[in-house]
Amino acid sequence: MTEVADTEVASFPMTRTCPFSPPAEYRTMREEAPVSQVELPTGQRAWVVTRLDDVRTMLTDPRLSSDRRNPNFPMIVPGQRRRPDFKASLITMDAPEHGQARREVVGEFTVRRMKALQPRIQEIVDERIDAMLAGPPGADLVRALSLPVPSLVICELLGVPYRDHDFFQARTAKLLNRHTPADERGEAFDELLDYLDQLVTGKEKAPTEDDLLGRQVLRQRAQDAEDHDGLVSLAFLLLVAGHETTANMISLGTLALLENPDQLAIIKNDPSRTLDAVEELLRYFTIAETATSRVAVEDIEIGGVLVKAGEGVITLGNAANRDPAAFEAPDTLDFERGARHHVAFGFGAHQCLGQNLARMELQIVFDTLFARIPGLRLAAKVADLPFKDDATIYGLHELPVTW
Ligand code: HEM
Repeated sequence: MTEVADTEVASFPMTRTCPFSPPAEYRTMREEAPVSQVELPTGQRAWVVTRLDDVRTMLTDPRLSSDRRNPNFPMIVPGQRRRPDFKASLITMDAPEHGQARREVVGEFTVRRMKALQPRIQEIVDERIDAMLAGPPGADLVRALSLPVPSLVICELLGVPYRDHDFFQARTAKLLNRHTPADERGEAFDELLDYLDQLVTGKEKAPTEDDLLGRQVLRQRAQDAEDHDGLVSLAFLLLVAGHETTANMISLGTLALLENPDQLAIIKNDPSRTLDAVEELLRYFTIAETATSRVAVEDIEIGGVLVKAGEGVITLGNAANRDPAAFEAPDTLDFERGARHHVAFGFGAHQCLGQNLARMELQIVFDTLFARIPGLRLAAKVADLPFKDDATIYGLHELPVTW
């Protein structure tokens, strides 16, 4: 086992030079030092794990904690540390608390539940495309489709009024932008928290079976386990995670399809292949690459390196999903590869709760968009597109298209 001496280390996050590839340093780290130390913008040091095998092993190891209250938890953004008065949500809990909390909500996200939502998601997508086609050709796809579709879906699922979308989308974008000043970040957090606090209070006064938050209120009541703050924190997590991630995948996925006409032809000719395409696009972009950060609570050996208790670990999905030991020609977008073992949704106990929903939304969007607007094309050069190099979730700020 190697103990690493206290030498100068690379700064993280690193910068992309190509919008379709992870930063070049990921390959070097994976090949030369697959578990290596980096320095974060907070000044903290953390370990970065870059091989798929190691990442999957680590994400099932209970000696790595998700608790963001731990002062050594690796934070990518200064000032992002969890507020002590904000009740832990699923993503920040450890076993056994995490398993209990996840069991209470997992039934809302089963494949069967998602299938039941399919007709409504199709309707939402069709309505947005009707609106695009009603005007003259040309739109910013982010505003016209990518953001509204998952926002409408998560609003209906949770019971959040969609008329408030400008409010919660703007605050989410601020929270996810790495360059938002700490005071603005704090303000955005407080405003979103207050908003959801009031919303949950409303549900508690008049709970219905119609939406997830109402059903959770009723469940808690039936079990004599009212937990207002827990529900607010769950609503916060689901609202933020439920729209911005999928929106970015819709934009990036559409761009990749337009840039790879041979791959687009596969799904246009045979829509039964779209789910494979979605899986490969998730692997290829791995937009939430640092979502799977942890802190070691005991000494642990990772890939032959000793990580000591109290040290931060970033299992870097975007490096792991380009690992040639796991994916042949990993930098090629290839819908035929069967990329199901990727870690774009994480792995282990915290694996994305909304993954079935995200897959379904992406599948419906890509099938419908290219069937209804077969002449869809970019209205800007790729080099001029505003990619979200400034955010903790990768994506596009705008995607000008025409037809
Ligand atoms: C393409 C879209 C999405 C991507 C790439 C994505 C990615 C991820 C990743 C990497 C994790 C693991 C975090 C960890 O290990 O600590 C995660 C967890 C989670 N995601 Fe997603 N996500 C997406 C969509 C969604 C949607 C639509 C929802 C909600 C409806 C959602 C809700 C959650 C929740 C609640 C967790 C925490 C689960 C737990 O800790 O048990 N996600 N997501």
